[in-house]
Amino acid sequence: MNYRETMNVNEKGHLQIGGVDCVDLVAKYSTPLYVMDEDYIRGVVRAFRNTVANTYGHGNVAYASKAFSCKAIYKIMKEEDANIDVVSAGELYTAISAGFDPAKAYFHGNNKLVSELEYAISNGVGVIVVDNLEEVDIIDEICARYSRKQKVLIRTNPGVEAHTHTFIQTAKVDSKFGFSIASGDALEVINKIKKSDNVYFRGLHCHIGSQIFDKSAFALAVEVMTDFIATLKQQGVEVEELNLGGGFGVHYSGDDPKFNIKEYCEYVELLTDTLNDCVAKKHISKPYFMIEPGRSIVGEAGVTLYSVGAIKDIKGIRKYLAIDGGMTDNIRPALYDAKYEAVIANKADKAGEEVVTIAGKCCESGDVIIKDICLPKAQRGDIIAVFTTGAYNYSMSSNYNRNFVPPVVFVSGGKSKYAVKPQTFEDLVRNDVEEDYQ
Ligand SMILES: Cc1ncc(COP(=O)(O)O)c(C=O)c1O
Repeated sequence: MNYRETMNVNEKGHLQIGGVDCVDLVAKYSTPLYVMDEDYIRGVVRAFRNTVANTYGHGNVAYASKAFSCKAIYKIMKEEDANIDVVSAGELYTAISAGFDPAKAYFHGNNKLVSELEYAISNGVGVIVVDNLEEVDIIDEICARYSRKQKVLIRTNPGVEAHTHTFIQTAKVDSKFGFSIASGDALEVINKIKKSDNVYFRGLHCHIGSQIFDKSAFALAVEVMTDFIATLKQQGVEVEELNLGGGFGVHYSGDDPKFNIKEYCEYVELLTDTLNDCVAKKHISKPYFMIEPGRSIVGEAGVTLYSVGAIKDIKGIRKYLAIDGGMTDNIRPALYDAKYEAVIANKADKAGEEVVTIAGKCCESGDVIIKDICLPKAQRGDIIAVFTTGAYNYSMSSNYNRNFVPPVVFVSGGKSKYAVKPQTFEDLVRNDVEEDYQ
């Protein structure tokens, strides 16, 4: 089972997270409930930052906030002195309203709206990661109006495509993100920026994929990126920063490797070691080093708690445990067949007795959170705890079927607090209007 450093089964046989008994959490906050372990989040960010400092010395960590975005997480990143990656004006607005310094934000997106670029530049965003040629002109024009010079990175496509356990290297790049290095597109956009008055070329970015376990894919990406840096150097272009994106794999279920925080840092160390080697052997200046992990910072910090409702035993076929949430709070199984592990939080010390399927309450047959999991015998009112739901769950949640998005509670040192409050019926109709045609 995926118990993290700050999770355990207590003397009552209940799952405990951050020193708080999940049964007590449900008594206080009800279900469905996202629980986030604050100490785990801080522990990973600190460990990643320390690894960068100790093995490279010139760089930082940007939390990819698409994984989980709310004011509380930006406040944590501010306190931990991390950077952030945002992909919309909405994420940037949330960060700013939490007191996060926009100068420490990286703004990504394959189609940033003109209005979003204006919002970001006028609020002093630190770095924009350019993803298409027109963006250079749009940034230049906005900067002229605000008398600003905007630092940018170029999102490149190094031709390394990584998918969980395997990767391929390809010169043919078919992606909506980034500029291909092999085709010359990346060089073209850099040359364009070099001619612009208000756009400042700071460096390169790449992100080779998500949920990657094969570390050699990252090493290969560093090789390709530093080859490109060496080529640019020959042409008189200096690369001050290299951002290598995110993508470190986390344990969801079954055979997924299970790393402790120290082992996670081996991803970072491999990147910095390879970069140190490449800098020496390719005679390039040492770029500022940046990574952008999202899932590995918040994924395993999250557990979703649900109550068991209807139990349907289709004799000889399948037994369904229906929960009070589903695809509205966790779209990943329906979206890409993601697999999860779970326990019955109030029977966490009991052995599995029967194979059941945990189904959501939404009007979609595909709304199944876990197919065929062995659990102790369940009854109505039991609490199901699904692990590794901290990344891309709350941030992808919806009000489908006009279900509520569950609240988010942070736990730490035996205490709990809301990070996101429960929705109300009033929230559901807040923007609905009954107007006549005009
Ligand atoms: C540009 C970029 N950076 C960082 C990330 C974060 O990746 P992960 O959550 O897998 O670490 C993503 C994820 O899609 C991304 O597109």
